[in-house]
Amino acid sequence: MARSSKASLHLWFVVTLMTSRVTLGEGSDQDLDQSTVDLSSETKHWGVEPGDTAPSFRVPTLDGELSYSPGALHGALIIHAFTHKSGFLECLWNNESSLSALVLDLPDSTQVLFLSLDDSAVDDALWMRRQVQRAALQHGREEVLSRLHFSPLPVFALGNWIPAVLYSWVCTRPRCGLAQAAFTSEVWKMPLIVKRLDARYDWLDNWDSGSYHLVDAGEGCEPSDRVAGRVAWVSEGNCSFFTKVQSMAQSNASGVLVWASEGRPLQNMNCQGEEECSTKLPDVPASMVHREASVIEALGLGQVVNVSFQGTPSPLIFIAIDQQGALSEMGGFLYPSFSFLNWQAQWFEFSEDLRTRLLAPAQVVPVLDRVVMHGHKGAVATVEISPDMLLSDTLELDVALSCPGRRDMSCAHWDHTVQLLVCCDPLGPYCNVELGRWISAFRRGTGHWLTDVSPLIPLLGAGRCTFTMKHPWWAMPWVVSLNLRFRPPQSPVTGEGGEQSFPFWVMPLYGGGVFDKNYNTGRQPITIPIPDSTKKVLLYAVITAHGSDDHRCGEFCVTSHTFPVNGINNSLEFSDAGSPLGCTRRVREGAVPNEYGTWLSGRAGWCCGLPVRPWVTDVTGQLDLSGQLSNRILYYGLFEGRDPNPTKDPGYIIMSSFLVYYR
Ligand SMILES: *[C@@H]1O[C@H](CO)[C@@H](O)[C@H](O)[C@H]1NC(C)=O
Ligand SMILES: *[C@@H]1O[C@H](CO)[C@@H](O)[C@H](O)[C@H]1NC(C)=O
Ligand SMILES: *[C@@H]1O[C@H](CO)[C@@H](O)[C@H](O)[C@H]1NC(C)=O
Ligand SMILES: *[C@@H]1O[C@H](CO)[C@@H](O)[C@H](O)[C@H]1NC(C)=O
Ligand SMILES: *[C@@H]1O[C@H](CO)[C@@H](O)[C@H](O)[C@H]1NC(C)=O
Repeated sequence: MARSSKASLHLWFVVTLMTSRVTLGEGSDQDLDQSTVDLSSETKHWGVEPGDTAPSFRVPTLDGELSYSPGALHGALIIHAFTHKSGFLECLWNNESSLSALVLDLPDSTQVLFLSLDDSAVDDALWMRRQVQRAALQHGREEVLSRLHFSPLPVFALGNWIPAVLYSWVCTRPRCGLAQAAFTSEVWKMPLIVKRLDARYDWLDNWDSGSYHLVDAGEGCEPSDRVAGRVAWVSEGNCSFFTKVQSMAQSNASGVLVWASEGRPLQNMNCQGEEECSTKLPDVPASMVHREASVIEALGLGQVVNVSFQGTPSPLIFIAIDQQGALSEMGGFLYPSFSFLNWQAQWFEFSEDLRTRLLAPAQVVPVLDRVVMHGHKGAVATVEISPDMLLSDTLELDVALSCPGRRDMSCAHWDHTVQLLVCCDPLGPYCNVELGRWISAFRRGTGHWLTDVSPLIPLLGAGRCTFTMKHPWWAMPWVVSLNLRFRPPQSPVTGEGGEQSFPFWVMPLYGGGVFDKNYNTGRQPITIPIPDSTKKVLLYAVITAHGSDDHRCGEFCVTSHTFPVNGINNSLEFSDAGSPLGCTRRVREGAVPNEYGTWLSGRAGWCCGLPVRPWVTDVTGQLDLSGQLSNRILYYGLFEGRDPNPTKDPGYIIMSSFLVYYR
């Protein structure tokens, strides 16, 4: 990377500022006084929180200027602040699959502004641009470059509100801030503190606090009798990261520090290939650091070197302005890849689309408006349902789960099942039947979704209905909002035989239970009554599997759920369960991305931060509607085509299943 003097920086500015100008939003050609006004209210911006409107700003870029003003931005603008002090960012910017993801998958609506927190901002901007240009050229994706803006001004010299947000929405561990290794030796006056990159979160353990004795273990490809109870200092290369960690762990090392070969970037240490990745390693932590001559020298001279592992908070390195011009957090990046930036951008698109769908005409019944869901009671409200609503064609649940505070760090830490139960007066057979189910996100409060539950309209009755949203009573609170959106029948109607059909009866079928060898024992077939004037019958089921037995069932194992109707199998298979990126594919449907937990992997029938999609099958053709023959339905759930047979910690199935009758 070329160094440039202050003089050349100045000259370069004078030249490039004149070249071109990128304008985001309307009215951005304000005079300088306008931007002075923004600056004079700077102190006010220290209070800017997620959801607030992002003020206007201008920044010089390598191509001229980027000018933003609220109002007419058609997509999201993501702002990234690079620093050399972060091992995570070093890998993010050097890893080929990370750069490829950026140029290949950045949604078309999204622009990115790249900044640097360091003095070397000019060089950093040029280098970041070269990195993406190279990747764009390699993938024939040059058009993406027009949406990427690189500023040569360091963050501390921007003269606008952006630094205030980056500095006040601090980035802390886990998964953010600066991860560092601190080396001490008797012969040094000062500790030596360097950036580090921990091995993949889903592969190895984290470091404990405390000081470890460091010992040189060469290449670390073979077990060694010198490393027990110590941290092994091993060089990169000659064998895989897996082999190094495995041989050091077999030698009872407390942890492994791999130092990068000269001139090589820190890498995202992980297992490679089926054989390595299916081998469970003992719980040892491992990280990568650069080659440190003084550490090598001290170890070579037989001096005691200790190492400890620390995290230092840093300014936030990613923020965004969404399509609506609101400031937004970007969540946690679980490993160094620009895919996380893309997922958040996809979610902004989903969110914009949702906003449009919410503008569609509907009869809206507000039920819960930012009510705290906590404890045994959950969040409860009673509303009036009018008879005409029950004749609606569509019922959608508009649900948002947010956090007690404005930032994600105030959110509940764990993913839990959230259920909506309904009970209408007079207390009928449907009291406390499940109307909807969601799974909450790990620590992110942006979830907002629409779920179509039209077949369940008969669960409601005209009059007072009480709605209860619940999650485990001991879980941390969520702030929930719920609106019912009824839409009248569309005309002309194209139902069976060209006529409108309405659901008039819901018959509950089976529930779930513990997913062990007795899961399918004792369940009896149910006779399906056929009331007069039945035109259509739907099978409607909401099924999720949870827990993790010795086969990783139910959450991460592929299970099948079959409802034979008169001998015809209606089956749902959770084929995505356990796939490493299964839930990332559902961000476009509203799955909350970049959660502070393992949200990426596919689950059995669900994703963290997403409603559970009802499974609806028309079984009319499988029935004898004349009622002359007896119609029967059964249910069974299988793992690998057989009854589950865990040896320990069986999982469980949560299931609501119904037949819905239309006339
Ligand atoms: C290294 O750690 C040990 C205990 O873990 C401690 O006794 C020793 O003083 C430390 N040495 C240095 C140089 O930090
Ligand atoms: C290990 O790899 C380095 C660089 O790749 C090489 O210079 C060295 O000779 C190798 N050592 C052995 C024992 O193969
Ligand atoms: C590692 O620990 C195990 C169990 O304590 C012991 O049997 C083994 O000999 C140790 N190996 C080394 C290389 O220290
Ligand atoms: C780049 O990142 C991908 C995905 O995280 C990882 O599989 C790969 O090993 C990384 N490559 C390097 C050279 O770090
Ligand atoms: C239904 O599935 C079961 C196994 O799950 C199978 O034995 C049976 O033959 C299937 N029936 C039909 C009609 O496909």
